[in-house]
Amino acid sequence: MKIKKNISLLPYNTFGIDVTARFFCEINSIEELESVLKLKDYPEKFVISGGSNMLLTKDVDALVLHLNLKGIQIISESETEVIINVMAGENWHQLVLWTLDHNFGGLENMSLIPGNTGTSPIQNIGAYGIELKDTFESCEAMEITSQTLKSFSKEDCHFGYRESYFKNEGKGKFIITSVNLKLTKKNHTLHTAYGAIDQELIKIGITNPTIKDISNAVIAIRKSKLPDPAELGNSGSFFKNPIINKADFLRFSEKHPEAPFYKLSEENYKIPAGWLIEQSGFKGKRYGDAGVHKNQALVLVNYGAATGKEIVDLAHKIIDTVYAKFNIRILPEVNIV
Ligand code: EPU
Repeated sequence: MKIKKNISLLPYNTFGIDVTARFFCEINSIEELESVLKLKDYPEKFVISGGSNMLLTKDVDALVLHLNLKGIQIISESETEVIINVMAGENWHQLVLWTLDHNFGGLENMSLIPGNTGTSPIQNIGAYGIELKDTFESCEAMEITSQTLKSFSKEDCHFGYRESYFKNEGKGKFIITSVNLKLTKKNHTLHTAYGAIDQELIKIGITNPTIKDISNAVIAIRKSKLPDPAELGNSGSFFKNPIINKADFLRFSEKHPEAPFYKLSEENYKIPAGWLIEQSGFKGKRYGDAGVHKNQALVLVNYGAATGKEIVDLAHKIIDTVYAKFNIRILPEVNIV
C-alpha cells in the first residue's frame, strides 16, 4: 500500500475534471482498506470508485482512496435463482455482461450505466423501469470510524428514487465493499414496455426477446442519446427528475398540457427534468467548455477543459431559469465535491 502525493484525479472521474488529490492510495483488499482507515496522519479520507457520479470542483485536500476491490462469486443458488457477491471495484457494465454470459436475468435493463458496483446502492441506480433495489439482496460496508464490516439488508438501505441510507443518514460513515444481488436463472421477467425498448426490438426484428436482446436494445438506445464519457466528459443525468404533489401538478399541467409526466401515486407526479430544461432553451447550448448535451438535456458535458466550477455555474443557471419558468426546483443527482 503506497501513499502518493499530488496526484491528478483526471483519470478517475468521468466528467474529466483535472483537480489534484493531496494524497492518493490504491486499495486492493479489505485488509488494506482497514489499515489505511486506521492511519492517524491523514484524518481526512475521500473515497473514489468509478468516479461516475461526482463533480469535482476543487483540489481534494485529503487522502483519496481509490477502491480497486475485485471479484464476482456465486454464493448460493437454487434451480431458479442465484445470489452473486460482487466486490465494490467491479465495473457495473462489465458485471451486467458477466450476468448475461451466465444467462442470469435482472440487470439487463441497466446495461451501460457508468460507474462501479460499490456505488450502485448509494443512489439506487436505475434505467428503463428497473432500479438496483429490484435485484438487491444485501451489501457489506466498512464503518469508517470502527473499521468493522457491517451487513445491510434491503430494508436497512431505505431505497428511494436515486436515494438511499448511504446518501442521507449514513453519508460519509461507510464504505461499501461488496454487493449481493439476486438474479433469475430461468423464466426471466422481461421489462420492455418502458422507454423505447419495444420500438428498438421491433426495429432490429426481434419478437421473442432474450435478456441479451434487451441488453442490446438498451445499449443501442443509450448510445443514441447519451454521450460516452470516454469521448465527452459527463456524469449521466446531472439532475433528478423532480417529484411534485397533486395540487402543483394540476396547476402545472393546466399551463403545460403537452408536458410528459409519470404518475407515481395519487399524490405524487414525476416530471422529466430533461423536458423542463429543453423547454427553457438549454438543450445543446455551450458556454466555454461546459455545455448541455444535444440529445439529452439532463446531461451536462465537459467539452475538454471545463472546470468543476464552470459546470456548477451552468447547473445553477439552469436551475434558476427552470424555476422562473415553471415554478419547479430541479436538484442535482450528481454529488458535488
Ligand atoms: N425529454 C425531453 N428533452 C430532453 C430529454 C428528455 O423533452 O432533452 C423528455 C422525453 O421526450 C421523454 C421524457 O423527457 O418524454 C423522459 O426522457 P427519457 O425517457 O430519455 O428519460 P429521463 O427521464 O430523461 C431517466 C433516467 C436516466 C435513464 C432513463 C431511462 C433520471 C434522472 N434519469 O431519464 O438515467 O437512463 O430515465 O430509464 O431518472 C442516469 O441516471 O445517469 C440516467 C441516464
